[in-house]
Amino acid sequence: MPTKTANASADASPAARASAKVPVHAHDGSASSAAPAGKHRAPPCTLVIFGAGGDLTKRLLMPALYNLAVDGLLDDGMRIIGVNHGERETQQWRDDLHSALEQFAADKASTFHAGKLDDHAWNWVAQRLDYQAGEFEDDALYQNLAKTLSGSGPTKANVVFYLAVGARFFKPIIERLGRAGLLKEDEGEGAAFRRIVIEKPFGSDLASARDLNRHLLDFARESQIYRIDHFLGKDTVQSILAVRFANALFEPIWRREYIDSVQITAAEVIGVEGRGSFYEQTGAFRDMVPNHLFQLLGMIAMEPPNSFDAEAVRDKKAEIFDALKPLTPQDVVFGQYEQGPQGVAYRDEPNVAKDSSTETYAAARVYIDNWRWAGVPFYLRTGKRLSARRTEISVQLRSVPFRLFRDTPVDALTPNVLTLRIDPSHGTSFDFNVKTPGPVMEIGAVRSSFDYDDFFAQHANVGYETLLYDCMLGDATLFQRADSIEASWAAVDGVLHPENGEAVPVHGYASGSAGPREADALLAQDGRAWRTLTPSEPKKS
Ligand code: BG6
Repeated sequence: MPTKTANASADASPAARASAKVPVHAHDGSASSAAPAGKHRAPPCTLVIFGAGGDLTKRLLMPALYNLAVDGLLDDGMRIIGVNHGERETQQWRDDLHSALEQFAADKASTFHAGKLDDHAWNWVAQRLDYQAGEFEDDALYQNLAKTLSGSGPTKANVVFYLAVGARFFKPIIERLGRAGLLKEDEGEGAAFRRIVIEKPFGSDLASARDLNRHLLDFARESQIYRIDHFLGKDTVQSILAVRFANALFEPIWRREYIDSVQITAAEVIGVEGRGSFYEQTGAFRDMVPNHLFQLLGMIAMEPPNSFDAEAVRDKKAEIFDALKPLTPQDVVFGQYEQGPQGVAYRDEPNVAKDSSTETYAAARVYIDNWRWAGVPFYLRTGKRLSARRTEISVQLRSVPFRLFRDTPVDALTPNVLTLRIDPSHGTSFDFNVKTPGPVMEIGAVRSSFDYDDFFAQHANVGYETLLYDCMLGDATLFQRADSIEASWAAVDGVLHPENGEAVPVHGYASGSAGPREADALLAQDGRAWRTLTPSEPKKS
């Protein structure tokens, strides 16, 4: 995550602000054009993608690589080898990816790219694509890869192995890469790197995460392992640190003395979307809480690091995960969607058991046992088939200490709330109080909002660009370390494996609602309420 400052001032003239909307990457389509100011091109490298035929490759990795090429951030020596079972010619793979990208490019709603695919940039990427068929558990595949990767020249030296495969293949692939000598790095400054990118889910509880970490570390060093949490690839998530640490306003109040509570929401309108068999094993809690939501919590709660060096940032985040008070079943509420305005019941989804007790909604109350946050509740909620798609963090401040307005018509003040909007709307809002116009002293709650689109040019971004680019550069800031992953699973182990052996009850909620009533009761116990989950209002022009 290289750092630099940009100037998008609120004082910029409308013309200047309008001109900032010109796509910043418009150029001749060749990745050999200059990298944008302040950015270095990634070093030459071969990216080996296990799972080349999968959805992740098609929907996210390839669009991200294309965007990086358009931005001039990839080296001419880049190669991409797609590995998958199933015979397929390289040309066929290129054609399939091309049609998928064209389709995404044409989709106005997609963040990938507005308009037509840039032929030059696509050809640049396509020339570098090679397909290699093979079974992930067959040693012959690794012998073939070793041959392909042992050619001469710098492009063969640096390798990133990207595991875009189901979790059951993580261990077999790592083991075979290790045994084939493909993870061996030479010593010394400037020596070629061998890195592994491993996708979520990283384990399904503390024991399995520890086991996977042990296995990885049998074959590679921690510094070679890049564990992805795609939420950290979102600009709006990375911006949490910028909001906190680049402004004098927030940090002094960012503590228990001023903050009442924090709410972290990741609400989705979609259901399980054909992922029934995966979801049946996983459920909303494992799928979202100890990973995506804890990552947001870590960004909000961590102490300021001494620098933006990867270890400095990751050390501070690790301290938060270490300080999490272990959750008990009483700290969580689980729900499952039933038939409602937005569609069928979860139990009627394909590949879902008719009597399934898998949760599609989870809410949790989390405490951080440290000096800064002792006693401040962090309320987390996530779910499918809710009334709105909304990922956001709301930091509610304590009430003012003195009821200055008590002898006026004002009897209650609306609390100040700072909301960091992650998705689908990008920006921040601040709720505060002002005097309403007129002769009587009345207080009105108002909202001041900042939207990314109003200040910055829209940038084609599917969320994996920074992650891929950083991995090639060797910057692990946005990737998860073994200790943090294990501490996160440790914090939720009492929910996944309750002491009394009784599973957390799963309450029904209507598809399209705000979740189960029991989740409201969780906050009501503390005299608080969830923020309303209504779809974001369309922006006024
Ligand atoms: C994934 C989960 O990790 O994150 C999905 O497996 C979820 O179930 C998705 O839908 C949410 O990510 P985003 O970026 O769409 O908010």
